[in-house]
Amino acid sequence: MSSTRDLEIVLLGATGYTGRLCAEHIVKSLPTNLAWGIAGRSLGKLEALATKLQEHDKDRKAPEQLVLQFNEKELTALACKTKVLINCVGPYRKYSTPVVKACAENGTHYVDVTGEAPWVKDMVNKFHETAKSTGAILISANGIESAPADLLTYVMAKSIKDQFDVVTDETTMSLYHIKGKFSGGTLSTILDFFNNLESSSSDPYCISLSKPAQPRSVSIFRRIFGVHYVPDIGVGTTCVCEPCDTSIVHRTSSMMPQLFSPNFRFWESMKTRNIFTGIAVHFTLISVAIVLLFSPVRWLLPRYIYAPGEGAPEESKAGFSIEYRGVATAKQDKPGKKDIRVLGSFRYDGCPYTLTGIFLAEAAMVLARSNRVGQEIKAGYLTPASLEDEYIEKLENAGAHFKTTVLEQ
Ligand SMILES: NC(=O)c1ccc[n+]([C@@H]2O[C@H](COP(=O)([O-])OP(=O)(O)OC[C@H]3O[C@@H](n4cnc5c(N)ncnc54)[C@H](OP(=O)(O)O)[C@@H]3O)[C@@H](O)[C@H]2O)c1
Repeated sequence: MSSTRDLEIVLLGATGYTGRLCAEHIVKSLPTNLAWGIAGRSLGKLEALATKLQEHDKDRKAPEQLVLQFNEKELTALACKTKVLINCVGPYRKYSTPVVKACAENGTHYVDVTGEAPWVKDMVNKFHETAKSTGAILISANGIESAPADLLTYVMAKSIKDQFDVVTDETTMSLYHIKGKFSGGTLSTILDFFNNLESSSSDPYCISLSKPAQPRSVSIFRRIFGVHYVPDIGVGTTCVCEPCDTSIVHRTSSMMPQLFSPNFRFWESMKTRNIFTGIAVHFTLISVAIVLLFSPVRWLLPRYIYAPGEGAPEESKAGFSIEYRGVATAKQDKPGKKDIRVLGSFRYDGCPYTLTGIFLAEAAMVLARSNRVGQEIKAGYLTPASLEDEYIEKLENAGAHFKTTVLEQ
């Protein structure tokens, strides 16, 4: 493999379910002069993918195919060949630490879609300073978990700042609606999580640059029953995305003091019909977690659901969609003024995994071509929202919808 950085974007793990969807978005929507490549461990699978991609755009030059083994030498060579590496190889805890290391040490921008909060914490602790010194921008958790929550929080805080010139104190987010199916890769990642429970952290500020003076406190009722009521959104219950989303959004808020108060708090739940369904969902999730503690169950499950590499076929995706809603609040400086409350929404009509592919490709495009990279967007371990408005605009052009409405001022 040549050591010159002759490609703009390389997609590693291109042969997996998410990787293939990301590759399709690149071919269908990114500029035709993009110099890019697909990478993985199997030449046969890469060739089959390249042939399939040609069906979407016959005039586009085929991506370079890069076969490699996951050792330090070959990953370093891969990182040195491209400006940006998109990584779809998961479970990330199991396979991807050497990929992040290669990018951090060689000044290669990096983006992934892990939802594995303990692994993200580990990567931030290990590679933030290295990335700062080499000029690499590393972004994890840029998938359906945690990009919508992070980006919508940013969009609401930006709107409050632009309209009222104050910083945001709190965001309450709701996974308002989701229709889709887990991929085999996601299932294997969930099962891998249960193999390594000791590494999980309950600190919602575990990757923040600073912590608020007063820690967040959760009511005893919510701790036991999982439910709570959010005005203008409704009843919420336990949400599986909450640990990763919370740590990512708190990192964003700690990196953007111009938009967020030092005491900023983020909360997340999943919308449910009423308090009874909310309690039922909460205890069902606890029961599922208990069942997954048994290793024979973890061994059996992939044999009955999708195996790694598989996911919902195109013909079964009718009606798939995802929506987040959130309320952001901010105090006004003037005495006697009410708190500002802004309602925000993020919606995508289509398969959540297709959206994940879009998140990856569009973030990589900002990292590959934006003049702000290395200037306003500085090196280090960042978050999806660090790519700011330029990224939001690209996502809107690709079919995602962000909206904000002032409820009270
Ligand atoms: N949180 C989110 O929002 C979100 C959304 C989507 C996906 N994800 C995560 O993204 C990851 C990928 O998901 P997926 O559904 O695309 O999985 P997948 O279909 O199983 O694909 C996994 C990819 O990793 C490669 N791979 C697996 N083991 C490897 C190894 N030992 N060495 C080198 N490459 C290896 C596979 O290559 P081969 O083709 O050669 O096997 C394949 O390209 C999972 O961790 C999933 O949880 C997260």
